[in-house]
Amino acid sequence: MDISMLRKQLVRFRFVLLITLFIFSVFLLCLDYSFLTTNTTRITYLVPAVRNNNPKQVEIEIDNTPSNFSTNFNEIICCNTTYNQNSSVTDEAKNVSTIHDEGNRRKYIINSPPPLIQVNVDKVFTKLAPKKLDPCLGQYIYVYDLPARFNKDLLKGCDTLMKWENMCPHLSNLGLGTKIVEKSNKKVLSKKNWYATNQFSLELIFHNTMKNYKCLTNDSSLASAIYVPYYAGLDVGKYLWGGFNISIRDESPKELMKWLSQQPQWRKMSGKDHFMVGGRISYDFRRRSDDIEDWGTKLMFLPEASNMSILLIESSGYENEFPIPYPTYFHPKKDDEIIKWQRKMRNKKRDYLFSFAGAPRPNSTSSIRNELIKQCESSKSCKLVGCYFGQNKKHCGDPVHVMDIFQNSVFCLQPPGDSFTRRSIFDSILAGCIPVFFHPQSAYKQYLWHLPKKGSSYSVFIPEIDVKRKKVMINKTLLNVSKSEVLAMREEIIRIIPRILYRYPNSRLETLEDAFDVAVKGILGRIEAMRRKITNSYHAKVVAV
Ligand SMILES: *[C@@H]1O[C@H](CO)[C@@H](O)[C@H](O)[C@H]1NC(C)=O
Ligand SMILES: *[C@@H]1O[C@H](CO)[C@@H](O)[C@H](O)[C@H]1NC(C)=O
Ligand SMILES: *[C@@H]1O[C@H](CO)[C@@H](O)[C@H](O)[C@H]1NC(C)=O
Ligand SMILES: *[C@@H]1O[C@H](CO)[C@@H](O)[C@H](O)[C@H]1NC(C)=O
Ligand SMILES: *[C@@H]1O[C@H](CO)[C@@H](O)[C@H](O)[C@H]1NC(C)=O
Ligand SMILES: *[C@@H]1O[C@H](CO)[C@@H](O)[C@H](O)[C@H]1NC(C)=O
Ligand SMILES: *[C@@H]1O[C@H](CO)[C@@H](O)[C@H](O)[C@H]1NC(C)=O
Ligand SMILES: *[C@@H]1O[C@H](CO)[C@@H](O)[C@H](O)[C@H]1NC(C)=O
Ligand SMILES: *[C@@H]1O[C@H](CO)[C@@H](O)[C@H](O)[C@H]1NC(C)=O
Ligand SMILES: *[C@@H]1O[C@H](CO)[C@@H](O)[C@H](O)[C@H]1NC(C)=O
Repeated sequence: MDISMLRKQLVRFRFVLLITLFIFSVFLLCLDYSFLTTNTTRITYLVPAVRNNNPKQVEIEIDNTPSNFSTNFNEIICCNTTYNQNSSVTDEAKNVSTIHDEGNRRKYIINSPPPLIQVNVDKVFTKLAPKKLDPCLGQYIYVYDLPARFNKDLLKGCDTLMKWENMCPHLSNLGLGTKIVEKSNKKVLSKKNWYATNQFSLELIFHNTMKNYKCLTNDSSLASAIYVPYYAGLDVGKYLWGGFNISIRDESPKELMKWLSQQPQWRKMSGKDHFMVGGRISYDFRRRSDDIEDWGTKLMFLPEASNMSILLIESSGYENEFPIPYPTYFHPKKDDEIIKWQRKMRNKKRDYLFSFAGAPRPNSTSSIRNELIKQCESSKSCKLVGCYFGQNKKHCGDPVHVMDIFQNSVFCLQPPGDSFTRRSIFDSILAGCIPVFFHPQSAYKQYLWHLPKKGSSYSVFIPEIDVKRKKVMINKTLLNVSKSEVLAMREEIIRIIPRILYRYPNSRLETLEDAFDVAVKGILGRIEAMRRKITNSYHAKVVAV
């Protein structure tokens, strides 16, 4: 073999080597995001018959078996994004329930909620948007113009949305509800932009805020995400009580999915770039059987919906559910209003060690609320805002009164109620009152995008089981928290106030990010991760061939 042949061979070899290296690095580059694995918990819901028209009896009780959350809840809180291509999250997610009949009650055992996904959003954006390019690149959202029956018509019929309550006032003012006029001279609230917002109006608030989003596009091919402005919770709310048959309950979810799957935008990613917002808890959209006694609609089990993502006020752990804060009462228009409010909460003198606003669950043996109320009543340092007969019930629905008590309290008890989470969590953060949680699913395992990763940095955790067994005195436990810890936790919740409130829908903040901004960043990151996963498997196939 002469020298020139050898050289040719060498060049060819170098070329092959380079190509192989290139394909390999592209492949590596794509392996970036994925799901976290989780430990298993077991949650039991007991759901009374739907036919029963008494709203008070339609509660989801939580009988949480004792777990080891108490001791290691800090470790459980995620979010160290590790990549594990092998995680069979979706398969597990499909195998989550077994059903037991217990007389007229139905018992669901939901095994191992699959992990919530934490996406490193900033990373996605810095990679996507090199300097001088369109600042909206990677952030464009296309909003469907849905047939009116999926949103506008529901608003027109607002008086029929709930069996025992007229929702019209709650849905006024772009979904914020009626404006609050503070009658006393106490100056509990700041001057502007407080509304008596209903906990279930997030769909409308989110949609109206999206109308003013800075990177909207009418060109769906440019869009990084596609928003489906369906008012899923308002829709199902009509049928949750009153014994409606399942074909009525599932009618519009099914029609919507049929409509979506026929849109040209659907084809691009089989709906995986689509997302919705649900202003009710996940449980209301995940009916497991076609038994009329079973709760809610099947929306999120429809095949199209399984490909989409949904932002909800409470997740039950499916990989396409992303919990975001309940709406609270303050909807500022400017950064400055928020900064002033933070300053006010920082300087507020607080007379009560702790407080609780809520109702007992007298018929539930598993609820700790009865015990908490008892302890609060017998504790001089506790203020109770009772939401039940015998108490001044009207106070508990009065935002000024609730905000007054919360901003006068160092700690606010946030036990599970009809579900794990409560709107009150966000009211207490807004008031600079340190939340006390009794279950990791009340916040630590839910609002991963919005709340600090380390639960103990902003809240106190008292295991539910210790309360049930009467092993703790809440007043003593809370008194035991050192002053410096209290100050640090309070500073932390005051710091996150902007992230947990929804600004006035027609406004934009300058430097602060509100709950909407954080949610949009999160969903864009999530969809980008899905997109990469699809591209990855494509590349993987090409390499394999
Ligand atoms: C508790 O059960 C009793 C008897 O079944 C019923 O009368 C009452 O309304 C229930 N209370 C609540 C708050 O559901
Ligand atoms: C909980 O802790 C106990 C005692 O430390 C241990 O035996 C048990 O395996 C733990 N359970 C789980 C689910 O980690
Ligand atoms: C991720 O977890 C590892 C070990 O579990 C830890 O050393 C590291 O600091 C974590 N990284 C982040 C960004 O939290
Ligand atoms: C996936 O799992 C298989 C078998 O458990 C293992 O051989 C393979 O290396 C894993 N792949 C990745 C990317 O982790
Ligand atoms: C689903 O769960 C049941 C009971 O835990 C188990 O027997 C079955 O193998 C599981 N199926 C899958 C696909 O994981
Ligand atoms: C999209 O089209 C509608 C109707 O033509 C128009 O009113 C709107 O301004 C457009 N939006 C954007 C972001 O171009
Ligand atoms: C469901 O109820 C509607 C109205 O009450 C009725 O028209 C329909 O036939 C019912 N469907 C089934 C399957 O029972
Ligand atoms: C959901 O996505 C998968 C691809 O991951 C696709 O095969 C399936 O057809 C999609 N489902 C619907 C209803 O579009
Ligand atoms: C602390 O709470 C217990 C009951 O939980 C009560 O008996 C006691 O009086 C309370 N202490 C004070 C100082 O309020
Ligand atoms: C008070 O805190 C100390 C250490 O932080 C702990 O050892 C003790 O058990 C706590 N007491 C109560 C009543 O919580």
